[in-house]
Amino acid sequence: MDKKEKLKAIEEEILSSDLPLKDTATNLVFGKGSENAQILFIGEAPGEKEDLEGIPFVGRAGQELNNLLESIGLNLDEVYIANILKYRPPKNRDPNPEEIRIHTPFLIKQIKTINPKIIATLGNYATKFVLAGFDEQRMKKVDGISKLHGKEQEVTINDAIVKVIPLYHPAAMLYKPALRKELEADFATMGKIISQNIKKS
Ligand code: URA
Repeated sequence: MDKKEKLKAIEEEILSSDLPLKDTATNLVFGKGSENAQILFIGEAPGEKEDLEGIPFVGRAGQELNNLLESIGLNLDEVYIANILKYRPPKNRDPNPEEIRIHTPFLIKQIKTINPKIIATLGNYATKFVLAGFDEQRMKKVDGISKLHGKEQEVTINDAIVKVIPLYHPAAMLYKPALRKELEADFATMGKIISQNIKKS
């Protein structure tokens, strides 16, 4: 199976599973971008627009994310974008530990299939989950995004070291405009890390 077929198989597996939040959601929000991406972005959970369209980051936070990607010369052929939760929590409430525990085995399969060189985590949930070594039980031990943002970290995936760049969630700067400058600066830092580690084809 090639990467595209493997991702399709993971998506089918989710569709045939009885995941929490499935009953209240409209659509599964699996992921978007290139299966050959070397840069993977991980968000938190689908919002209203994502739930309606079945595609991650298509609402206001998505527009902000697109602008930030453009600011460092990235497009959707070069990145893949997925979320911790595959279905929208009602009224966009925070994910709970049980939902994270049951949804993330699929995210882990997605990550191992894409096999990125760099992971950008958007917000607290994605940052804590990845830096906890993909273990929901250990998330509480990881520092929050306000401490970690913009600081390069490392995790092991498929026996290789992968760089992790924690970033504020683009939705955070919509309700806290002071974060915009920090997010822009962190994206610029990430742009440098990308150019040092990834050859453009
Ligand atoms: N916020 C997220 O974390 N993910 C989305 O897909 C949309 C908004």
